[in-house]
Amino acid sequence: MSDKPVVLVVDDDKNTRDGLQRALQKNYVVKTAESAEAALKILGAEAPVDVLLSDLRMPGTDGLGLLRRVHGQSPQTVCILLTAYGSVETAVEAMKQGAYDFLTKPINLDHLDMLVARAIKTRALEKKVETLESQLNEKFGMESIIGESPAMHQVFDIITQTAPTLASVLIQGPSGTGKELVAQAIHRLSQRGKGPFVAVHCAALSATLLESELFGHEKGAFTGATTLRKGRFEMADGGTLFLDEISEIDPSIQVKLLRVLEERTFERVGGEDTIEVDIRIIAATNRDLRAYVQQGKFREDLFFRLNVVDIMLPSLAERVGDIPLLAGRFLQEYCEKNGKHIEGFTPDALNLLAAYAWPGNVRELRNTVEKMVVLSRADRLSARDVPANIREAVKGTAAFYGRSQILTMGSLAETERRKIMAVLDKNNGNRTRAAVELGISRRTLHRKLREYKEQPMVSDDQV
Ligand SMILES: Nc1ncnc2c1ncn2[C@@H]1O[C@H](COP(=O)(O)OP(=O)(O)OP(=O)(O)O)[C@@H](O)[C@H]1O
Ligand SMILES: [Mg+2]
Repeated sequence: MSDKPVVLVVDDDKNTRDGLQRALQKNYVVKTAESAEAALKILGAEAPVDVLLSDLRMPGTDGLGLLRRVHGQSPQTVCILLTAYGSVETAVEAMKQGAYDFLTKPINLDHLDMLVARAIKTRALEKKVETLESQLNEKFGMESIIGESPAMHQVFDIITQTAPTLASVLIQGPSGTGKELVAQAIHRLSQRGKGPFVAVHCAALSATLLESELFGHEKGAFTGATTLRKGRFEMADGGTLFLDEISEIDPSIQVKLLRVLEERTFERVGGEDTIEVDIRIIAATNRDLRAYVQQGKFREDLFFRLNVVDIMLPSLAERVGDIPLLAGRFLQEYCEKNGKHIEGFTPDALNLLAAYAWPGNVRELRNTVEKMVVLSRADRLSARDVPANIREAVKGTAAFYGRSQILTMGSLAETERRKIMAVLDKNNGNRTRAAVELGISRRTLHRKLREYKEQPMVSDDQV
């Protein structure tokens, strides 16, 4: 296999085909076809074609027709049309149909060379952007939010439904439950996903500072305002503004915020020009915002404006079944970061983690696993590796000695088993790929599968 780019030349005239092939074969793998139909066969059957060079006028399907079919069948192929007529209209039509460029006959070979090289460069850049984007999606999209519990599935459903809309979203949940992750996922999945995501932590700033942070200020608006400064609203134009800890916002700013939500316009501090912005607002709080409204600490009209869609994130204690999954992913992440090879947790260790109340939720679990990875020398993390404060807290609680221990043991193992079988299924039984997706080693996966063979599956109502 050569790694030269592949160019497909389509022309009903043999001389043109041969001429182009000779001109291009030094730098490219050149394939030829005498009709659109023959070209489509090649596009369908063989290695991907990077550039298609097609005559416009051909018997049967013409160049424009071929162009349309190529977009459906092989969207990664860049198309350049050749025309003997060079009429502006056909060229314009070709570009409208998505052609990368066109060349008029007789073909200037230098021009051809340059154009093909440029088309391939463009294609390579597009590919790179696609890769980067999918990496961003992994980091900030739904893939970054881990959870298999019914409560999390409900959250995923709401995210999918609301992301494409412009609706304001209020995310509520205790500290460390993933509010910012959810906000980023909604942004990434929306049409404005490629625009900016701007976060403001409202509790960290005094009222005056927050005002100029949000709205910006003109030069000389106050002592110290030596230059014009754009605020977060302007920075988020075309994207999403994430207002974190919204409950802590001063009443004087609440009024101004309400106006932006209603009219999408505002003025910079000390400014007179009205500025219009195209933004989506997502707010988050770990307080009971409704109670704040009842106590008169938060404007009711603002609450309703923000709360068009309401997402309630469950505490980790409400989704104990997700603990092994989360712990497993964090284990993999920190092993990679620290260059360690740890296979997994012993059942005892998992049981301790599942019985603990996690007041700091997922953040606390993440930090705990990091600590365990850094401090451990074993190849499996056992109860001894669980930090003493957690062991102490769990000791003597009903969750550890009582009914729920057995319950969590059973359901944890089952959750894990279902997940493993589902991922294996998804990867058509390919264990290497399944292990990567699950974040466990192949050895662990083999061991688990051996265990499953020896034990019958527990049905849903037994769990
Ligand atoms: N469902 C989840 N899957 C994976 N990681 C998660 C999940 N939920 C939270 N985390 C991780 O926990 C940490 C805290 O998440 P995040 O900052 O989104 O929480 P938060 O709800 O905004 O907390 P706070 O109220 O303290 O601001 C982050 O490291 C995040 O990656
Ligand atoms: Mg947060």
